[in-house]
Amino acid sequence: MFSQTKLEGLRFMDKEENKTGAAAKSPAGLEGVVAAESSIGDVDGMRGVLIYQGLNIHDLAEHSNFEETVFLLWHGRLPKRDELDALRAELASDQKLPDEVLSLMRSFPHDAEPMDSLRTAVSALGFYDRDARDLSREAALRTATRLTAQFPIVVACIERLRKGLEPVEPKAGLNIATNFLYMLKGETPAEREAQIMDACLILHADHELNASTFTARVVAGTLADMYGAVTAAIAALSGPLHGGANTNVMKMLLEIESPERAEEWLKDALAKKKKIMGFGHRVYKTEDPRSFWLRRFSKEMGEAKGETRWFEILERLRQLMFREKKLYPNVDYYSGSAYYMMGIPLDLFTPIFAVSRIAGWTGHILEQYANNRLIRPRAEYVGPRDVPYVPINER
Ligand code: COA
Repeated sequence: MFSQTKLEGLRFMDKEENKTGAAAKSPAGLEGVVAAESSIGDVDGMRGVLIYQGLNIHDLAEHSNFEETVFLLWHGRLPKRDELDALRAELASDQKLPDEVLSLMRSFPHDAEPMDSLRTAVSALGFYDRDARDLSREAALRTATRLTAQFPIVVACIERLRKGLEPVEPKAGLNIATNFLYMLKGETPAEREAQIMDACLILHADHELNASTFTARVVAGTLADMYGAVTAAIAALSGPLHGGANTNVMKMLLEIESPERAEEWLKDALAKKKKIMGFGHRVYKTEDPRSFWLRRFSKEMGEAKGETRWFEILERLRQLMFREKKLYPNVDYYSGSAYYMMGIPLDLFTPIFAVSRIAGWTGHILEQYANNRLIRPRAEYVGPRDVPYVPINER
C-alpha cells in the first residue's frame, strides 16, 4: 500500500520536511492519487470503461448474474459450475439473521433512515459471527459470504418492520435479487423485474477506490475485523455525494414533475449554484458505462408500468446538463427511477446499492488483509505554530 511509485499527483514529504513538519501539497479530495494496488476492478475514466477482474462490465451485465460476479470479485476469475453451485449453497445456508439482531432491529425507530438502520444492524451482526476476529482468507471469505447473504435480508427487514409488518423468510431456490424483492414485498416478483434487479446488483458491485471502498480498506488496514470495515463503508456510502445521490435524483424528479418544467427548474438550480444529483464524477470524463444499462432499465420499467414521465424528465435534463455544463450522468442518475417503478420506497435505493456493493467491499477487504500495510497518510498542516498557552482567566 502507498508505495511511492504508485502515488501519482501527490507530492511527498521529503525527509527534511518530515522532520520539520513542513507542509506537502496534496490534491484536494486526493484527486488522481493512486492509493492501492488492486486486481479487483478498474475504471478508465477517459474511455468510459469499467472492468471487474479484467472482464468488461457490459459483458457481465449482459451475460452474468450477481452470484457469479461475487465469485469473480473474490476469486479473480469466473466460477466453474460446481464452484458457483457451492457458493449459492453457502449463501443459502447463511440466509438468516441471529434472533438477537432481529430483536434489536424491532427496537429501531420507524422513522430511522434505512442506511442508519443498516449500519447499526450490520455492526451488531459482528457479535454473532464466531469467525469475525479471524482474518485468515478462509475465515474472512466465510464472513464475506455471510454478509452478502444477510444484507438483502437486513434491508428487507428494515422495510417490513418500519411498516409494522413481520419479516418474510427468504425462499429456497431463489437468487439474491429475486429473494430480495420477494422478502421486501412478500410476493414473488415479476420475472423481468427480478432480472433487472439482478443486473443492477452486478452494475453496482464494485468501483475501484470509491469513497466507501477506500473507507473499508482504511479500517481493514488497521486489522480491524470485516464488520468494522463494512460498517464504516456503509456510513461513507450513505452521503449524498456518494450512494445517497440515487434517492436525491428521484426526489428531484418528483419536484420537477413534468419534462416541460425541466429547463426552468435546471436554470434556477444552476443559478443557485446547486449540485445536480446524478451528474458528474471524479473519474469519468465521459459516459459512465453503467448508466448505459440503467438508462435502458429506467425506460423499460417506465414503459412497462405506463409511466414514462420520469424517464422523459431524465432525458431532458441529461441533454440540458450536457449543453450547460458538459457533464454526463453517473451510476445514480437512472437507477432510482427503475426502482421507483418497481414500487420500492425512495430511501431504500441507497441500501440496495449496499446490497450490491458488499461484494466489492468484502473483495477489497480480503485483498487488504492478504497484503496489508497500515494506511496512514500525512495531513498538510495549515494552522498556526508556536502559539503561547494563555491561562483561562487571562483569555
Ligand atoms: N452539478 C452541477 N455542477 C457540477 C456537478 C453537478 N452534479 N458535478 C460537478 N459539477 C461542477 C462543479 O460545480 C465544479 O465546477 P467549477 O469548477 O466551476 O466549480 C466542477 O464541476 C467539478 O466538480 P467537483 O465537485 O469539484 O468534482 P468532484 O470530483 O469533487 O466531485 C462528485 C464529484 C460526483 C461528488 C460531483 O460531481 C457531485 O457532487 N455530483 C452530484 C452528486 C452525485 O451524483 N454523486 C454520485 C457520484 S457517483
